[in-house]
Amino acid sequence: MQTANPRQTEKKEHPSGDKRFKVLDITMKRAGYNQSALIEVLHKAQEAFGFLEEDVLLYVARALKLPLSRVYGVATFYHLFSLKPAGKHTCIVCMGTACYVKGSGKILEDIENSFDVKVGETTADGEISLGSARCIGACGIAPAVVFDGVVAAKQDSETVLAKLQSFSQ
Ligand code: FES
Repeated sequence: MQTANPRQTEKKEHPSGDKRFKVLDITMKRAGYNQSALIEVLHKAQEAFGFLEEDVLLYVARALKLPLSRVYGVATFYHLFSLKPAGKHTCIVCMGTACYVKGSGKILEDIENSFDVKVGETTADGEISLGSARCIGACGIAPAVVFDGVVAAKQDSETVLAKLQSFSQ
């Protein structure tokens, strides 16, 4: 059985403090830092971040000890991965258990109805790309919504819709 690299398991959180990197760590650790888990890890990254930013690709490449070119190659080959958000802004609603029990399902539904957009799509005006994630590692501040990469705590429909309206103006 392959064991995890102790250096990687001891690794502290990402310097940005963004807990979504911790979610990536958990996914990679569960896979024993196996390079064959690359696609699964990129899936998780896209779900948590909405798209695959360069520093996310770099983070994954380092952790799995893969050349960045290989990680880029996979990320660009599969159409389901995107390196850039389609919209000017991104909004990712966490639908993990902690967030869901605190109302994230209703928040997502209200966004879809108010902006006539579905998860995985971008509004017709190209302003907002909507996504959902299963857990972004911020359960203590549920329900969490990520606006343009910044995690917002204890959200409700009113706050989220107001924020998205400000994006659309
Ligand atoms: S369930 Fe939403 S951050 Fe964990």
